Amino acid sequence: MATRLFEGKAHASYYQKFRFSPPQEIQDLIFSYMGERLTKPYGFAVDVGCGTGQSTRILVPYFEKILGTDISPAQIDEAEKADDFPNLTYSACPAEELPVDDASVDLVTACAAVHWFDTEKFLKEVDRILKPRGCLAFFTYVPDMEVHYKDRSEQLTKVFSKVQDALDPYVNDKVYHVKTGYKDIFDAIPYTDKKRVEKITVKMPMTVAEVLGLMQTFSMYQSFLKAEPEKAKELVVATEQRFLEILEVSTTEAKVELWMNNVCLLASKPE
Ligand SMILES: C[S@@+](CC[C@H](N)C(=O)[O-])C[C@H]1O[C@@H](n2cnc3c(N)ncnc32)[C@H](O)[C@@H]1O
Repeated sequence: MATRLFEGKAHASYYQKFRFSPPQEIQDLIFSYMGERLTKPYGFAVDVGCGTGQSTRILVPYFEKILGTDISPAQIDEAEKADDFPNLTYSACPAEELPVDDASVDLVTACAAVHWFDTEKFLKEVDRILKPRGCLAFFTYVPDMEVHYKDRSEQLTKVFSKVQDALDPYVNDKVYHVKTGYKDIFDAIPYTDKKRVEKITVKMPMTVAEVLGLMQTFSMYQSFLKAEPEKAKELVVATEQRFLEILEVSTTEAKVELWMNNVCLLASKPE
């Protein structure tokens, strides 16, 4: 059965506000991998589990046609409100049943999403829709994030780690795939031309408000909020206070740097 943790309208609007686009490092990796296997112009890309479209709209300049899909109508609704590109459409549907013709797709992406899908069914669906030599790119950030600011990085990261500890009881079983760097999903990809790139470190400038906002998009925070709303809100307030104390500032517009490790699976369907 599908795991439905991203359905609420409030959660979707947090997504629209605080999720970031896939880092340039990962985009470069994908387009260089594709460039070695397919010739331009690229025709059709499908971004599965697209949320509010942050991972989808980056594909607009590269493809004639792009489809973003997500099981949550609330997420699709936010994506459609945000975007108006003639070559981009969205559809609310499960990853395991995509409204896409056989052998029609150059690239299938899933950003911070493939671990939520039924791996076996999804990989069959990807194989059905990919053209020969078509590529897949499944990537995500992994939980060991660090918050950096001058000589305060250790203290800030400790606060962030404490948040992750507090959220630990609410981590869904599927997040196991993320913690293990998508190893099992990689092994399940049925193609010989495949690679798993680990430890792609990305340093993202963010305000304290953006770090706190991002934290509230995490599925484990949303599960905590559902189970214990008061405690969950207190956690955000306490974290904000600690960040401001450590930084010796009074505004959440203060800038820090969030360091994230990412993993990316790349593969290409045989001819
Ligand atoms: C962590 S979010 C990532 C969203 C977006 N790709 C991003 O990077 O911001 C995971 C998304 O996968 C979607 N999802 C979960 N299970 C799904 C399924 N079986 N089929 C399609 N989408 C699914 C959720 O609704 C959610 O929007």
